This record gives sequence, C-alpha cells and structure tokens, in this order.
Amino acid sequence: MSPERVIVVGAGIVGLAAAFELRRRGVRVAVIDPEPGSGATHAAAGMLAPVSEVQYGQEALLPLMVAAAGEYGPFLTDVAAATDLPTGYRREPTLVVAVDPADARTLADLTDHQVEAGLTLNRLTTREARRLEPGLSPRLSAAVEIAGDHQVDPRQLALALIDALTQNQPLGMPGGHDAGPAQFVPHEATGLLTRDGRVAGVRLDTGTQLEADAVVLANGTGAAHLEGLPDGLDLRLRPVHGDILRLAVPDHLLAPGEAHLLTRTVRGLVGGRPVYLVPREDRTLVLGATSREDGVAGVRVDGVHQLLHDARALVPAIGECEIREMTARARPGTPDDLPYLGATGLPGLFVSTGHFRHGVLLAPLAARLLAELITHEQDPARDHSLDHDHLAATDPLRHSGGPNEGQTR
Ligand code: GLY
Repeated sequence: MSPERVIVVGAGIVGLAAAFELRRRGVRVAVIDPEPGSGATHAAAGMLAPVSEVQYGQEALLPLMVAAAGEYGPFLTDVAAATDLPTGYRREPTLVVAVDPADARTLADLTDHQVEAGLTLNRLTTREARRLEPGLSPRLSAAVEIAGDHQVDPRQLALALIDALTQNQPLGMPGGHDAGPAQFVPHEATGLLTRDGRVAGVRLDTGTQLEADAVVLANGTGAAHLEGLPDGLDLRLRPVHGDILRLAVPDHLLAPGEAHLLTRTVRGLVGGRPVYLVPREDRTLVLGATSREDGVAGVRVDGVHQLLHDARALVPAIGECEIREMTARARPGTPDDLPYLGATGLPGLFVSTGHFRHGVLLAPLAARLLAELITHEQDPARDHSLDHDHLAATDPLRHSGGPNEGQTR
C-alpha cells in the first residue's frame, strides 16, 4: 500500500527531486532542512557528465550515470510543467583538453576506456578545439568533444523544485491524485521515531516530532548520524570536500558580439590534475573543484591557488576575471563510489545518499526509483530499462555485514 505521508530529510537536489517524484504520485510530503539547497547543491557546478566523469574501476556506476543522463530531459519537462522558474539546463557539448604531453597520454587512455565502455566522444585536433573556444590556451596537447555531457544550474534547479513542491496547482501524474503542497520544515532532524517495528516519523532539534508513514534520508553524510538508525545498518559515508570558485567575466575580455569567454563546459587535465570551467548565462564561470579528505570544511588556500593556476593554463584570460565567490562543501562518498539507494531493512525507512561526485546527475533517476519503490507507482513516460543487477549495486545494506556485503565490486 502506498504511504499517505512521507518525510524527506534533506533539501538538496537529491531530497527535493525525491519529494517532487513522491508528490507526483499523490503522496503528502514534508521536507526537513534548516536551509534548503545550502549543502553540496549550493557548491555544485551542475555538470551532467556521464562520459567525462567516468573513472577506471567504476563499472557498476556507469549504467546508472548513463540512465540518469537519459532521465534528465523528461524530468525537467515535468518540472517545467509545474513552475516557471529556470533550471539552467544547457545541452552544448563539453570539451575535454590536456595541457602537456603526459596529460595527453592520460586523456588518450581514458578516452580508449570510455569508447570501450560504449560511450560516444569525438577526438579533435587542438586547432579544432580552439576554433570552437577561442579563449583556450594555444599550448594544449589534446582535445576531445563529448556531445552527451550537459549542465544544469543546481541553485536554480533547487529553487525551481521548491517552487514546484509548494505550488497549489496539482502536479500529479496524468490521471493521478495530488495531495497538495509539500510542507517545508526549517529544522534539523536529529533522530527517527519508530513504532511497532517500523518507522513512524522523525525527531527535530526543537524537541518536537513529526509523524509519517515513511522517511527518506537524503541528507548526505548526515544520514549516518541520525539517532535510531536500525542496528546493523552501516552507511559508510565520508565527506570529500571540494573547493569551488565563481568568476565574473569583465566586458573588456569579450570581442564585439561575444556573449561569454566560453560557450561550453571545458574540462582539462593540467599536470595530472582535473579542473573544469562551466559557463553560466549570467556571464560567470564556475571553476572547480578540488577533492580532499582532510576534514577542513572551509575554503582552503592551496585549493584556490591550484584551481586558479590550472584554470589559467586552460584559459589564460581568466586571470583578468573577478572572483565573485569561493565555496567549499562536502560530497558524500562511499567505499565503492556507488550511492546508497533504497530500503534499509527497517520498514518505512529509505535512503538516497552517497551520490558522491554525481548528486546532481543522479538525483532525478534516484528520485524516480525511490518514489516507485515507496508508492509502487510507475510513470509510464519514463525509461524503465535499468535492470535489477544495476540497482542491486546500490543496496543500502551492502556494507552492513549481511548476505549482500561486498557483492558490488
Ligand atoms: N562532479 C563534479 C565534482 O564533484 O567536482
């Protein structure tokens, strides 16, 4: 039976998308977060990069990333039907470039791996790359174009989802029921309420409690720290901090008729380090990102220094841009780089976390899968071709010492 009321803990893209898919299926949703959209969503560049973010040894993740990229268009169509707010969805191809010859070899090996995995990309000469993006440095060694890697603006998408969730206008699936606007509760969830062997709601930092038939934990690394998690549920989440900058492009850098310094996302390898520059409509660039496990929550000096150094090696003119913002946030990492997505063994308790570097990309797919699991209602307009084995790889119990432990890699 579909639950009537579900609490989603965490209002980043992952939690908001889950709340959206639940409301579309007629569920009354409460979203708990002291500051919606202020975690990793606030920092994220929003690259939807199933190809250029492929890493060696992530074979179980790849089908999820590819399916998630396919889910984005239909998901955003549903969001656009519920709100007029923009999401910053852009479908220009991504360019990946290498600076020195060693970077070019690394990029060539990675592109071979991506092609073997069935992904589509187009090797370019560096001259062709510079024709596409005249702002690129003349001192590049290799370039690849990836037509399938796009972007959203996660801050805009979060606002759009909040608007859609709080609208009075029904957003149920065709012919479906709508339970009304979601309730946003601006507090911290501190623990779970259980009754008769199942979840009954959450406790809040106000000392009060909120009841529900089911609870979704979508609060990143915080999911592992809630009081009352079932014994034996081992969510091995760790913070992988990233420093990220926002730059504004001054008028004098643009030739007449030029709207921006870059027209598409440029990713690069510089002395073996990855860096990316993502252009936004407001003529800013998102420059990211470090990956560090030092526990430093704030912006690190050497992180910023390295990002600026590496980005200038790709696009020298960024030295003349204005730094608008420096941000650091934690990505929720897991031991096998796969999310924890699904049921937990405690009836009524579900998780969607551990999306690591891919929270923005995976959010709509994770949201739909979770909403289907909770309500048993499929949206016939979405693609349901991911098979059971792919989803089993994200079992939240896989590190919990049960029969599934260690089966994903
Ligand atoms: N997905 C980009 C990052 O994690 O930096």
